[in-house]
Amino acid sequence: MNDLLNFRELSTRGWTAVDASAARIGLAQAVEQLAGTLGRPVPLRGRRLVQELRPTPSERAHPRSLSMLFGEGAFPLHIDTAHWPVPCRYVVMACASADGHAARTSLLPIGRLTLTRDEQSMLHTTVFRVRSGRHSFFATVASRERSFIRFDPGCMEPTCSSGPHVMSLLSSNRWASSLEEIDWEPGVIVVVDNWRVLHGRDAAAGIESESRTLLRVLVQ
Ligand SMILES: [Fe+2]
Repeated sequence: MNDLLNFRELSTRGWTAVDASAARIGLAQAVEQLAGTLGRPVPLRGRRLVQELRPTPSERAHPRSLSMLFGEGAFPLHIDTAHWPVPCRYVVMACASADGHAARTSLLPIGRLTLTRDEQSMLHTTVFRVRSGRHSFFATVASRERSFIRFDPGCMEPTCSSGPHVMSLLSSNRWASSLEEIDWEPGVIVVVDNWRVLHGRDAAAGIESESRTLLRVLVQ
């Protein structure tokens, strides 16, 4: 599996895709193998390393998840684990099932954004409260002291009047023509550099939960 991973593309574009449909091992095993070559796979909220993601109505979702906030609607652009002191470096996602109209995943590499100097400054100076239970903290989206972006409308609350504007700066509406879309097919694995590429999901309403199953492994 590892020889299929295009490290150069991952490094230059911020994400890369692998077709594992012909692999002789199971998809979960392939995802775990790939994740292991990138770093240390880590569980989220004590769950298994390989998580299954399906469209989930709000009432059945985990209390601190995007599904709880947005249900089967579109997920805003975000990074995963924005509530960790240092977010995970890579997110490995794989399509276990898709019925032809599975909600697409959108990707937005931060380095391609054309922001004004004022807008860039706001990313560095506007403070958000990052909800993480007893370990909540305050943080900006960007900082010269770190190389990762921290952004997730699901767990970051504005603390001042410029907060909502910063949220809209990184919304999918604003960058609709720059989004790179993943049309999921069974067996496709996508590796995303979570430090510099935002991701979101199209609305999944009306899609049977079993018809759109992604596997995900977080890598530190
Ligand atoms: Fe995510």
